Amino acid sequence: MSPHDPHNDKQGIRQRKVDHIDLCTREDVEQRLTTTLLEEVTLLHRSLPELAVEEIDLGADLWGRRLKAPLCVSGMTGGAEAAQRINLELAKVAQRFGLAFGVGSQRAMLIDPALRDTYAVREVAPDILLLGNIGLVQAAQTPVDKVRELVRAIEADALCVHLNPAQEMIQAGGDRDFRGGVETFKRLVGELGIPIIAKETGCGIAPQTARQLAEAGVSWVDVSGAGGTTWVGVEALRAKPGRREVGEDYWEWGVPTAASVLFARREGLQVIASGGLRNSYECARALALGASLCSMALPFLRAVQESPEAAEAFATRLIDGLQVAMTLTGSRTLADLQRAPRLHGPNLRRWEELE
Ligand SMILES: Cc1cc2nc3c(=O)[nH]c(=O)nc-3n(C[C@H](O)[C@H](O)[C@H](O)COP(=O)(O)O)c2cc1C
Repeated sequence: MSPHDPHNDKQGIRQRKVDHIDLCTREDVEQRLTTTLLEEVTLLHRSLPELAVEEIDLGADLWGRRLKAPLCVSGMTGGAEAAQRINLELAKVAQRFGLAFGVGSQRAMLIDPALRDTYAVREVAPDILLLGNIGLVQAAQTPVDKVRELVRAIEADALCVHLNPAQEMIQAGGDRDFRGGVETFKRLVGELGIPIIAKETGCGIAPQTARQLAEAGVSWVDVSGAGGTTWVGVEALRAKPGRREVGEDYWEWGVPTAASVLFARREGLQVIASGGLRNSYECARALALGASLCSMALPFLRAVQESPEAAEAFATRLIDGLQVAMTLTGSRTLADLQRAPRLHGPNLRRWEELE
C-alpha cells in the first residue's frame, strides 16, 4: 500500500466504511447458491428429554468474562460517525443479554487515533467479552506494540486478526501481497500477550488453512464460512465495470460454514462459528458440530438499522430458540449438545472426506 493511495487514506477508509454499512443494510449481499451446509446437520429429536428448562445452562466462560449465551455480534464497523452509533447500540444489546461483541477493523484508528471513539463501547458495555479487530496484512506491517495498543485503547479482551484475501482481490486499491501471513501469526502469538482469534470474513477455513493456523500456534478461529454475507459480493457492488464482473464470477467462492467448523475442530482449534447463521436452530447445529460460540453480522446490522428494539428482539429470539434446541435434544449444557446424536447429509459428508 502506498501512503498516498487515495483508497487507503483517512477519507478513503471512512467513505469505504459508510459504503459497506449502506450496501449491507440495503442490498442483496448474501451468497445466492452456496449454503452453510448446516441444513445437512440434523439433530435428533427426543420425545423424552428428562430435563426441565430451568436446568439448562447456556452460559460460557471465556477470557475472564461470563457469557449468558454462546452468542456473539461479529465485528463490523468503526471509523465513521454512522459506525459509532451502530457499535454503541449493538454493544448495549450485548451487555443486556450477556453476549460477546466485536468491533470492525481498527485500521482507521491506526491511521488516526482520534477515531478511537467510534470503536469505544466500554462505557455502555462494561462487562461484555469485547473483541478488537485488525487485518492480517495491517498486523504484518505494524509493530506488535502498536497492535497491542489498539486492543488496550478500547479495553478489548482479545483480538480478531482477519483474513480477507478474497475481498482484497476485488476491492479497488486492495492488498495484493499476502506473503508472510503464517509468520505474522507466529509473531503475534509469541509477543502480543493478548488472546488472538484468526477470523475469516465469509470464505471459510479449508483443512490446509486450519493446519497452518494450528502450526503457527493459533488456538482460536472464527471460521466465517460461506453461505452468508459475501465480501466478494459487497466489493463487486462497489466496483467499477470490469472489476465488478470479476466479483460476480466469484460471488459463490468459499468453504461452507459447517465444513469449516469440522475442519478447524479436527486440528484441535477452538471455534467461533459464523458465516450465514440466521436463526437459533442453525446456531444449535454449529454448536453441536463443536463450535464454542456462534457469531452473526448481517442479521444484527439489519436489525439495529431498523431500531435498537429490533436488535433486542432478535437476541431474545436466538436465546429462546437455543433453549428449544437444548430441550429437544435433552442437553443441559453446551457440552451435552456437542454429544447429542446427529446425522450429516451427503454433501457435508463429501466435504468431510477432504484432507
Ligand atoms: C457491514 C459489515 C462490515 C464488516 N466489517 C468487518 C471488519 O471490519 N472486520 C472483519 O473481520 N469482518 C468484518 N465483517 C465480516 C463479518 O464479521 C462476518 O465475518 C461476515 O459478515 C459473515 O457473517 P454473516 O453472514 O453473519 O454476515 C463485516 C460484515 C458486515 C456485514
